[in-house]
Amino acid sequence: MTSISGKKIILGVCGSIAAYKSAYLLRELMREGADIRVVMTPSAANFVTPLTFSALSRKQVYTEMFPEGGSATSIGTWHIELGLWADLMLIAPVTASTIAKLAYGIADNFLTSIALALRAPMMIAPAMDADMLIHPSTSSNLSKLKERGVLVLEPEKGELASGLTGTGRLAEVGRVVESVEAFFEGHHRDLVGRKILVTAGPTQEAIDAVRYISNRSSGKMGFAVATAAANRGAEVKLISGPVALETPRNVERADVSTAHEMYLALDRNIDWCDALVMTAAVADYRVAEPPDRKIKKSEFAGGEARIGLVENVDILKELAPRKGKRVFVGFALETDDVLANAKKKLAAKSLDAIVVNNPREEGAGFGTDTNKVRILFSGERQDIDVPLLSKYDVAQKILDQVRSLL
Ligand code: CTP
Repeated sequence: MTSISGKKIILGVCGSIAAYKSAYLLRELMREGADIRVVMTPSAANFVTPLTFSALSRKQVYTEMFPEGGSATSIGTWHIELGLWADLMLIAPVTASTIAKLAYGIADNFLTSIALALRAPMMIAPAMDADMLIHPSTSSNLSKLKERGVLVLEPEKGELASGLTGTGRLAEVGRVVESVEAFFEGHHRDLVGRKILVTAGPTQEAIDAVRYISNRSSGKMGFAVATAAANRGAEVKLISGPVALETPRNVERADVSTAHEMYLALDRNIDWCDALVMTAAVADYRVAEPPDRKIKKSEFAGGEARIGLVENVDILKELAPRKGKRVFVGFALETDDVLANAKKKLAAKSLDAIVVNNPREEGAGFGTDTNKVRILFSGERQDIDVPLLSKYDVAQKILDQVRSLL
């Protein structure tokens, strides 16, 4: 008996040369005791016949939204019934085109219609040519799905149907089965019961009633951490500076503007959390006394404007005495002496870990959808190099560390 035994799984098959592997996958899942219904896209039926899957599953295989001979009373709602029935929908292989449809909610065949009606979680295993996989459309569609909590089994490197070698092969059947097992064992929800506080974005410090000092932080990294933590089952509070991003699902968000407001919001919530992930780019200085009106150009003498700044509270240092057993993770954006500076911050701010990035490296830092970081620890742990990945995937790597530090 494994965790798969007795589980109701919809196995979706799309039109890829790897579709024949789904027959092996079906057999393995059935061997483990799963109750399976196979759904194919019309183009999948060009690669493997529905008969193969119905013979193996001993069940009807669904390919058409409106099959000939279906009764008018039932066929229009089959996709809803299956969507309610399943414990998991596993699409293996999933093609670039179906990934795009899933990302945008297009329901133009039986498989994509079920996907929209589905209440259960979804796992997908892409298979395609290497260039299609790295195309910006596919990678942004995959990121969208991951952010929504879809579990993506990354394709493998090897020989592709085109004869070329690259990344794009369907994950091996054994790996897919293991991932389904891990899913039912709850590994992907490994932060259930944990309370995670995340800060994101820049702060804005007023110069006068209409102007402010700020920085280029987009908030994307912090929002990715909040999204990923919620997808892994944590209770998440997100304290955000001014950003143009939507609140992730199942995340409680509080908006702040200045460093002082961010400090007050953290002061209210720090005792609640088990872990703090401080991605916010907090302004170190503010204008001492910003007037509550617009400063006129003429107020500055001789064409030279000087603004007096005073230091803001260092939020992490201020919170350090209340850390207790909580895990504190900070971020450091460094352009020079990157590691030495980050190590100093790790100690000075009583952090368990610090995530370092250098905006001079391509694909890293502010505004981008990707990041490339190194995670340093206060104890004996070895540094971890996280290669260039989407910010969501980087967030997952950071949360893996938070989980093991908790
Ligand atoms: N931070 C903070 N309070 C501040 C400034 C920063 O809590 N007033 C936090 C950030 O959220 C980040 C970490 O401290 O997690 C490091 O921020 P960073 O701006 O890199 O470091 P600073 O301490 O401001 O040092 P410097 O500007 O000299 O690099």
